[in-house]
Amino acid sequence: MCWRALYLLTAAAASSSETSWVCPLTCHCNSSALAINCRGSQLTSVPDGLPLEAELLNLSKNGIKTLAQQQFHMLTPLLHLDLSNNLLVLIEAEAFLGLHNLLTLNISHNHLKIVPVGAFVGLTNLKLLDISGNQILVFLDFTFRDLTSLQFCKASDNSFVFISHQAFYGLSSLRELDLDGFNLTVVPTEALNQLSRLRTLSFRRLGTISLPNYSFRHLVQLKELVVSQCPRLERLSANSLFGLNLTSLTITHCNLNGVPYVPLHHLVYLVRLDLSFNPITYIHGNLLKDLLRLQEFHLVGGSLIRVEVGAFKGLVYLNLVNVSRNLLTTLEAGAFQSVDGLRTLGLDGNALACDCRLLWVVRKRLLLDFGGNPPTCMTSVKLQGWNFLDFSDDELLKLLTCQKPRILNNKRQDVMVDQGHTAVLHCSAEGDPSPSVNWLNPQLRQVPPVGRVRVLTNGTLEVRYAQPHDGGTYICVTSNAEGNDSLRVSLHVQSLPSKKHFALHGWSVLPSASPNGIGSHKLPFDVKTLLIAATIGFLSFFSSVSVCFVFMFFWSKSKGQIKHTATIAYVPRSAMSNNNSKSGGGYMETGRFTMKLI
Ligand SMILES: *[C@@H]1O[C@H](CO)[C@@H](O)[C@H](O)[C@H]1NC(C)=O
Ligand SMILES: *[C@@H]1O[C@H](CO)[C@@H](O)[C@H](O)[C@H]1NC(C)=O
Ligand SMILES: *[C@@H]1O[C@H](CO)[C@@H](O)[C@H](O)[C@H]1NC(C)=O
Ligand SMILES: *[C@@H]1O[C@H](CO)[C@@H](O)[C@H](O)[C@H]1NC(C)=O
Ligand SMILES: *[C@@H]1O[C@H](CO)[C@@H](O)[C@H](O)[C@H]1NC(C)=O
Ligand SMILES: *[C@@H]1O[C@H](CO)[C@@H](O)[C@H](O)[C@H]1NC(C)=O
Ligand SMILES: *[C@@H]1O[C@H](CO)[C@@H](O)[C@H](O)[C@H]1NC(C)=O
Ligand SMILES: *[C@@H]1O[C@H](CO)[C@@H](O)[C@H](O)[C@H]1NC(C)=O
Ligand SMILES: *[C@@H]1O[C@H](CO)[C@@H](O)[C@H](O)[C@H]1NC(C)=O
Repeated sequence: MCWRALYLLTAAAASSSETSWVCPLTCHCNSSALAINCRGSQLTSVPDGLPLEAELLNLSKNGIKTLAQQQFHMLTPLLHLDLSNNLLVLIEAEAFLGLHNLLTLNISHNHLKIVPVGAFVGLTNLKLLDISGNQILVFLDFTFRDLTSLQFCKASDNSFVFISHQAFYGLSSLRELDLDGFNLTVVPTEALNQLSRLRTLSFRRLGTISLPNYSFRHLVQLKELVVSQCPRLERLSANSLFGLNLTSLTITHCNLNGVPYVPLHHLVYLVRLDLSFNPITYIHGNLLKDLLRLQEFHLVGGSLIRVEVGAFKGLVYLNLVNVSRNLLTTLEAGAFQSVDGLRTLGLDGNALACDCRLLWVVRKRLLLDFGGNPPTCMTSVKLQGWNFLDFSDDELLKLLTCQKPRILNNKRQDVMVDQGHTAVLHCSAEGDPSPSVNWLNPQLRQVPPVGRVRVLTNGTLEVRYAQPHDGGTYICVTSNAEGNDSLRVSLHVQSLPSKKHFALHGWSVLPSASPNGIGSHKLPFDVKTLLIAATIGFLSFFSSVSVCFVFMFFWSKSKGQIKHTATIAYVPRSAMSNNNSKSGGGYMETGRFTMKLI
């Protein structure tokens, strides 16, 4: 009975309010939804006489140019205000005063260049603000001071050049911020420091070359960071992500040429890493292992040549790898901690060589999600264009084969060389895929590709200025996915007769000793020059000592007679240092002075 009365009462109230709704001519009002819809009505200003009970006011797609002070002050119950797609160039201070119930405000796609301080005064309950698609250049200090409840702020597609240090002051509830700095040349670290509750930050079009240290230091709650479309961004400083505890990191369409292993390594809660559309060429082995909880790795459209064995080592939760549209020839199972957990694999758009290294992918092909684009074979003639789903089980083992490396001319070799000369040890092998060649020195350490003893890119070992201690047995190990082969080569270095035995090795590592900068492996001067230089130096030293003795002799002779002056001859120091250009000029360079004896 009572309920019924209440119902009737509210129905009456509703119908009475319905009658009181005077809808502006160009708008459509829905009194039961408390909505006023004036979209696309060619309005040039906010219409007068809007029903005061409205909760939604849609003014989008009109030609409104300005919002005056207290423009909406009677519409206290309003929850949603849509002013998108207008021609707004000016919002006066306190334009929204009175809308203290407003939850969403959309002023996207207008012509605003600046948001005056005080424009948002009174919007104490606003949760969502969309100011994207304007031409805003700067955010001034305290622009958002009153928006203490704001959780989502979209400011993408603007032309920021500057974000003032206190611009975000007051945004104590902000969880998600979308920024787009068209010409922003610095990360607005100071401004971001105010946003301690921020969980998602997206940054587009940053003009910097490197992301500086401590860029996001105070964003302790940030979970997701997106940096995209920054064609100049080449690197992240070692501590650029310091202080962050992210679960998702996206850096796409930038200019990174390597995976930023060091800046990332503390992100142990990272679940998703997206480095797509960067010119990254390698994923190195063992360097991502700190990202313990990583589940998704995306690097689409990069320049990947190789994913090294062990690249994803330690990543036991990895279930998605998308390396579509790169320059990979293969992806070995050894790159993963285990391929068992892998569910999604993007590998299409690579120049894949279908051999035993990709057998694991073909074997798992029915369990893997290829995103609708199964990989295809490219570089092998017989399998050109084959789709991974085309193989039948009995074809697999016959078609996807490798050939173990075999060293050509693999008889045990002995190489003799005279001391100081260059020894060359050959090792070439065939196999499919073409095998890598490594050399181990007699101490069984791998020979590097640079230095006096080095491995050339064609697999030949070169020992320059061979010394007796270089002698011993070198081992060439050549390997590919299918196996390995090795060859031992003995090197004997013939000693020089002892009189010429200068410890010469070591000269070659002085690059500045080479006069013209090139051919630094040649000695700057030979033994003869050295001998002459040493002799000249000795002669001039000897001459100055002997002059001293002569002087002392005459002085001692003149003892008894009282002499008040003495003449001292000496060899100037400069004569010593450049004497190797003057032959035997020791005496010519002497100087003289007279001093008084007391
Ligand atoms: C008004 O809004 C209500 C609830 O949202 C809806 O069911 C109704 O169809 C709308 N009326 C008109 C005329 O659009
Ligand atoms: C206002 O109208 C536009 C255009 O029809 C529409 O896309 C938008 O969702 C509406 N806004 C709201 C808050 O309903
Ligand atoms: C704001 O309006 C634009 C254009 O109507 C729309 O695309 C956008 O999604 C709206 N923003 C929000 C947060 O709803
Ligand atoms: C960005 O700055 C460059 C020069 O600094 C200028 O040429 C370009 O027009 C600016 N772009 C925008 C959108 O302001
Ligand atoms: C960033 O920090 C690292 C480690 O402290 C330091 O080596 C590096 O020089 C810093 N980079 C810059 C640009 O300051
Ligand atoms: C980092 O974030 C994870 C969840 O994303 C949370 O469990 C962990 O406690 C956070 N660590 C720190 C030091 O805040
Ligand atoms: C890999 O990423 C590209 C681009 O985002 C997408 O089109 C494709 O479906 C993804 N592949 C997989 C297997 O998810
Ligand atoms: C490898 O290159 C070096 C110099 O570039 C050459 O002397 C050597 O003969 C080459 N080795 C083979 C096996 O072709
Ligand atoms: C070479 O292959 C054998 C098995 O054929 C293996 O035991 C050995 O570890 C391999 N050596 C290298 C250096 O890969």
